[in-house]
Amino acid sequence: RPRVLSGIQPTADSFHLGNYLGALRQWVAMQDTHDAFYCVVDLHAITVEHDPAVLRRRTKVAVAQLLAMGLDPERATVFVQSHVPEHAELAWVLGCLTGFGEAGRMTQFKDKSSKQGTAGTTVGLFTYPILQAADILLYSPEPGEGARAVPGGVGGRPPTGERALRVPVGEDQRQHLELTRVLAQRFNHRFGETFVPPEAHILQGAAKITDLQEPEAKMSKSASSPQGIIDVLEEPGPMRKKIMRAVTDTGSEVVHDEEKKAGITNLLRIYAALDGTSIPDLERRYAGSGYGQFKKDLAQLVVDTFAPIRERTLALLDDEKQLDRVLALGAERASGVAARTMETVRDRVGFVGRG
Ligand code: TYM
Repeated sequence: RPRVLSGIQPTADSFHLGNYLGALRQWVAMQDTHDAFYCVVDLHAITVEHDPAVLRRRTKVAVAQLLAMGLDPERATVFVQSHVPEHAELAWVLGCLTGFGEAGRMTQFKDKSSKQGTAGTTVGLFTYPILQAADILLYSPEPGEGARAVPGGVGGRPPTGERALRVPVGEDQRQHLELTRVLAQRFNHRFGETFVPPEAHILQGAAKITDLQEPEAKMSKSASSPQGIIDVLEEPGPMRKKIMRAVTDTGSEVVHDEEKKAGITNLLRIYAALDGTSIPDLERRYAGSGYGQFKKDLAQLVVDTFAPIRERTLALLDDEKQLDRVLALGAERASGVAARTMETVRDRVGFVGRG
């Protein structure tokens, strides 16, 4: 089976609709077809100022939400990044292969640091994408693991090119994935074939869900106003209200038009992704019915999707022991893979073994 790895930050009290459609739904689907590793990236969460008690709570809520969305700890390895110290260790090595200018070109860093100002911007925020590359490359399948399904079958030990490492993410992660590929290739070139350059798995249509109040901007934990964002754990009442009040245009036709109707286009994308109906079919269904009915139906669809996830999350949070067991199992499985990769890396780089 090909391998899949992805991560999410525990930086809010709930994941949001963009996280769900852009990434998390794919995580759940891919656990059945891939050898899956999914982590809650708490090391990334401290690149901005944080409160320790809040981080601890959000990390648990994050894990509970992932399980409530359908990740099964038997089928997928669900773990917390800080439980596997190799992530930070590999990040150091990769940092020593990254150009200063190269890291400085990351647009997410430029956006976030310009908001924080020079005084509030940490070195951790600057090296963030290198840690992300480490998260991914640590789980590079070894020869014989993670083979693509090639018709006719490839037995034995496929060469690196045959090994697959897929990363389901939203559009905003594309540049970080590209850096990860470059670093994998650079390491391999200098020290011998070790890492599998990952493939971004970015779904057309749901890869950039936008803010309900500012439909040109990404729906974002850090940048959106509460009215612009739908939280997975939100109560149905406010959820409906936010969708009914979502910014649209002065027209009345439910049609896809990125330029002139960014608001309706975003809502159509959300509807299509949740319902499995194509956008042209939705346009036909709502021809002549105006925005009100369309929004009402969409609100119902969102409520129906998230209400059971919310209930299961709350139930899971009541059973702390069960969550701890899941995390212990995840940490053990992830550590097994990470330790082997890191052993190879230390050797290739030239560190002397402990004997
Ligand atoms: P994070 O925590 O910001 O977001 C988690 C996932 O949600 C996607 N996403 C969106 N997709 C569509 N529309 C949106 N409005 C939207 N907002 C967020 C993100 O693209 C992401 O897939 N750097 C990563 C976390 C990370 C990671 C990794 C990801 C750390 N290590 C290794 C993959 C592999 C981030 O900040 O995601």
